Amino acid sequence: MASAAFAVSPTASSPAGEVQILPFDAPLGAEVIGLDLSQPVDTATFKRIHQAHLDHHVLVFRDVSITPAQQVDFSRRFGPLQIHVLRKFQLAGTPEVLVVSNIKENGEPIGLGDAGHYWHSDLSYKDKPSLGSLLHAQELPKEGGDTLFANQHLAFETLPDELRRAIDGRLAEHSYLAKYEELRARSPWRPALTQAQIDEVVPVQHPIVRTHPETGRRALFVSEHFTTGVVGLPKDESDALLAELFALSTRDSLVYRHQWQANDMVFWDNRSVMHLAAGTPDHERRKLYRTTIEGDVPF
Ligand code: SIN
Repeated sequence: MASAAFAVSPTASSPAGEVQILPFDAPLGAEVIGLDLSQPVDTATFKRIHQAHLDHHVLVFRDVSITPAQQVDFSRRFGPLQIHVLRKFQLAGTPEVLVVSNIKENGEPIGLGDAGHYWHSDLSYKDKPSLGSLLHAQELPKEGGDTLFANQHLAFETLPDELRRAIDGRLAEHSYLAKYEELRARSPWRPALTQAQIDEVVPVQHPIVRTHPETGRRALFVSEHFTTGVVGLPKDESDALLAELFALSTRDSLVYRHQWQANDMVFWDNRSVMHLAAGTPDHERRKLYRTTIEGDVPF
């Protein structure tokens, strides 16, 4: 698992009624305090949140007390929601919510316990990968359970020139199935996929360097979880190039490590960052609710 990188300690609460956006002293991320997401967010505040999301790539909302339906409503303001292919872990009655959890009830997992085991950008294996994801803490472990985020704009901007030239204009293939059987062999969370599920996740090709559709900033867009090969290169060259990119895109200097506090909700931009779940000890319980917003076809 990845090492420490930047972690940020909690800030004081804001005066009543005042929404504050406090950038972290880290390569990405900001904290939003004083916003009551159980109430409708007015247009001006929504615009501030939207802009902060573009500027900082990861927003941490503190003390969020909302229902799954309210999380769905807030998420939908950014775009249509995507339903995860593992229907088994949808929240009952709210299919837009994916339960991320290592908890078992009556011997059965209640959520996807190994979500985020490898660095990735959510749903990069779809034609329209995710714009962003919101993860709301329901139950947190006393130890472990951190989530790491790596800034892929900085990753691209700090690549050696020679590597930039090697990937310029190239496409890579992304597949949901890339690591599925490997994960399935050692986890209780991965059912055998039906043919209908396999048909839902046909591999796709995306630019290795994508342009953010709202800011125009370029970012690396390959990950150890889902990227299987560089289009048009022999396998050995492709593997070597991807290994180099994976290592450079997750360097500590690009990473913010989120140490969860009770009722945090974290909203990240999958067009700008990759993320990784650092892991939770088996004896600890962890449960979070994720909504996933559909994005554009990468260019
Ligand atoms: C995810 O990859 O969506 C889950 C991240 C986490 O559980 O920390």
